[in-house]
Amino acid sequence: MKKSSVVIAGGGSTFTPGIVLMLLDHLERFPIRQIKFYDNDAKRQEIIAKSCEILLRERAPEIAFSYTTDPEQAFTDVDFVMAHIRVGKYAMREQDEKIPMRYNVLGQETCGPGGIAYGMRSIGAIIEMIDFMEKYSPNAWMLNYSNPAAIVAEATRRLRPKSKIINICDMPVGIEERMAAILGLKSRKEMQVMYYGLNHFGWWSDIRDSAGRDLMPRIKEHVAKYGYVVNPKAHQETEPSWNDTYAKAKDVYAVDPDTLPNTYLKYYLFPDYVVKHTDPNHTRANEVMEHREKNVFAIAREIIEKGTAKECKFEADAHATYIVDLADAIATNTKARMLLIVENGGAIENFDPTAMVEIPCIVGSNGYEKVCIGRIPQFQKGLMEQQVSVEKLVVEAWISGSYQKLWQALTLSKTVPSASVAKQILDDLIVANRAYWPELK
Ligand code: NAD
Ligand code: G6P
Ligand code: MN
Repeated sequence: MKKSSVVIAGGGSTFTPGIVLMLLDHLERFPIRQIKFYDNDAKRQEIIAKSCEILLRERAPEIAFSYTTDPEQAFTDVDFVMAHIRVGKYAMREQDEKIPMRYNVLGQETCGPGGIAYGMRSIGAIIEMIDFMEKYSPNAWMLNYSNPAAIVAEATRRLRPKSKIINICDMPVGIEERMAAILGLKSRKEMQVMYYGLNHFGWWSDIRDSAGRDLMPRIKEHVAKYGYVVNPKAHQETEPSWNDTYAKAKDVYAVDPDTLPNTYLKYYLFPDYVVKHTDPNHTRANEVMEHREKNVFAIAREIIEKGTAKECKFEADAHATYIVDLADAIATNTKARMLLIVENGGAIENFDPTAMVEIPCIVGSNGYEKVCIGRIPQFQKGLMEQQVSVEKLVVEAWISGSYQKLWQALTLSKTVPSASVAKQILDDLIVANRAYWPELK
């Protein structure tokens, strides 16, 4: 079997060690000859890289490992680019979350004004990485987690329509794992799903087991009571803010009991609730810095100090499995059915063919084939038309440097109450993002 060469872009990401562990776990079916890390922050990357170097030396010394900030070195001789960069890092995520809250508008990494601000930062960096990949490894695939995936996907559709980039999200996978646990199944892979929507904006319309039995009624019964909290009696399944999101899915589900919702819909359907339950001085970015970032870097430093990763405490989860499954599907033609963010092109019959939608696809060495969804209900269609217009306007604004278009994007977001509030938020975001956004006229 051919051995692949992988570069992880955003080498300094908190998710990088998980992906390395998962790659090591799958070597039998997805063999690897080389892993490289690439980041534009040498210092941050070095800590993660040095610890992973020790881990790889101990567990798979035959795999060549290197890390760099030099694009030519990073993108030469690779089959896959696994991208998860965060332009502006957590410091800017914190701004995205806190600035809208000044005006009682929710601040979120990928939704509403925060997601729009982040999109304006990400587009240029992703396009630059696609160009590096196409220059130095023209046959490679980029598997992209970098957020906001919806806006990034639309930007790549507009600006690099022929590029081999596949945008993905781990949220449906994470929710499906919860559904499987609710049903008492060993794995989400025992379920076959129909799902449609935009990224962080979608619904399950059908879920069956391998014998074709409908699993929706049992899941719905649980979600109607507890949302996606698997074990309501457990003191706390996950971090409090995520627990609240999983519980709130109960109310999101109630709005349309024909389908099962993505948790992110809470930001669009219950923005007032979200604002009320957010501390404007301590948002999710603060939590992540205090927990995940701190922990991952502490584990990395410990490995470096001890000179061994024998008792390594890094963790790999659904996020890591999903991107490795996707690379494996392309490398070894598994024809796995996976949710991807792709150009609609008629898959959703009564929706804009140029929209980037999240739907099931069959993945193999030729890329992906889309599963036909057919017609979607008016409620979903209406919501999606508004949201996809926000995403398209952001990309328009980035391309043309238009203040007007970006103001329209913010105004159209269901999370923003009026054009005047949109303008105030926009003006603050422009100041905060001066180092990252194109100049708007
Ligand atoms: P992080 O800040 O820990 O890591 C991101 C890394 O990207 C940093 O080391 C940073 O220096 C680097 N970076 C920033 N700009 C860069 C550029 N232009 N070129 C190269 N490297 C650059 O962030 P994290 O919390 O680990 O998340 C990483 C990314 O993955 C984020 O975009 C996050 O939103 C995304 N993510 C997406 C999903 C999904 O469902 N699509 C799931 C989880 C995380
Ligand atoms: C889910 C989403 C990602 C998002 C992440 C945020 O995994 O699918 O797109 O980046 O949540 O999680 P965090 O722990 O960083 O708030
Ligand atoms: Mn996501």
